[in-house]
Amino acid sequence: MAELTFKNVIKKYGKIEVIHKINLDIKNKEFLVLVGPSGCGKSTLLRMVAGLEEISHGTISINDKIVNDIAPKDRGLAMVFQNYALYPHMNVFNNMAFGLQIGKTPKNQIKQRVEEVALILGLEDFLKRRPHELSGGQRQRVAMGRAMVRKPSIFLFDEPLSNLDAKLRIQMRAEIKMLHQRVDSTIIYVTHDQVEAMTLADRIVVLRDGYIEQVGTPLELFSKPVNTFVAGFIGTPPMNLVECKVSKQDKNTFIQFESGLKLPVPEKNGTKLTDNQKVVLGLRAEEIAPGAVDTSFPEEWIFEGMIMVVEPLGNETHLHMDINGVKIMSKSEGKKIFKPNEKIKLHMNLNEMHLFDAKTTEVIY
Ligand SMILES: Nc1ncnc2c1ncn2[C@@H]1O[C@H](COP(=O)(O)OP(=O)(O)O)[C@@H](O)[C@H]1O
Ligand SMILES: [Mg+2]
Repeated sequence: MAELTFKNVIKKYGKIEVIHKINLDIKNKEFLVLVGPSGCGKSTLLRMVAGLEEISHGTISINDKIVNDIAPKDRGLAMVFQNYALYPHMNVFNNMAFGLQIGKTPKNQIKQRVEEVALILGLEDFLKRRPHELSGGQRQRVAMGRAMVRKPSIFLFDEPLSNLDAKLRIQMRAEIKMLHQRVDSTIIYVTHDQVEAMTLADRIVVLRDGYIEQVGTPLELFSKPVNTFVAGFIGTPPMNLVECKVSKQDKNTFIQFESGLKLPVPEKNGTKLTDNQKVVLGLRAEEIAPGAVDTSFPEEWIFEGMIMVVEPLGNETHLHMDINGVKIMSKSEGKKIFKPNEKIKLHMNLNEMHLFDAKTTEVIY
């Protein structure tokens, strides 16, 4: 059982503050993913939890006990790094057993624990090999095994899959998720990869420049991004974000692009906008579909555009479109074939439109 609380946590390196007053509660058995671009402070946060980095201000608590001054080995956690950090001269068994050996666990218990975990991870035939005799995926499993044998109440993962090729990454991702379903541990997992974050997390924390931008379930972040940063960070392809301005005519409200193109705003949302307000329109590629997908949409939601680039992915196709000078991405489900320089009709699902204030970047609706 392990709950974790960050209270006003600040980290300074010298005079430079890189983590700014972070407040966060992590629940028992939660799979929490910290995601954000390189340099945003993910590793620093994790290392402060592990006790590898001093906390400049504020507190981190595990089960309501402040751990700021507790030694790493006494915090009941285990960390898995990107570079595995295996001992090259030790075989797999000893790499996995090392933490228990220095902890003076009885020998037979160590053997039992390592063999149990090796079985779970499919490493039982590799226990006598050294790290250089293993594939990247196997090494990563050993690094995970070493953490698992200690039965930690909290697992910390710092970009554990970054060194693996794409196929293995997807396989290991599923294994980590299975591991979480099998053990009763809380997991804090760091990645710069939003797909990894979406697929693994119970809840995601989006970090930028040492600030939390948004905390939520994968679906919440996808459907209700609170600002343009989260909107553009989560989702593949990223949400279309286009600067434009509000134009009011009588009772009707429009979003007007620089090119002159106008979109009607669904009536219920018009009242939240003022004439001439600068806004950023956000619309996901799948909400700008070629052809009349849903004929219940009003006519004025259909636009003609020119296909610039076609990216077929098998069961869907991404289209880089030019609609009257506005560049957007469109997504077509299925195996329909498209050609560049072709003019096609696009159906914009304006019910799924997001609007952000251009100045604050925060969501209006
Ligand atoms: N030991 C250090 N000394 C000084 N600055 C550091 C140190 N470690 C990290 N930083 C800085 O802190 C910020 C956050 O780094 P880090 O936590 O490693 O980011 P991430 O893991 O998200 O890529 C970066 O600007 C980085 O340059
Ligand atoms: Mg890092």
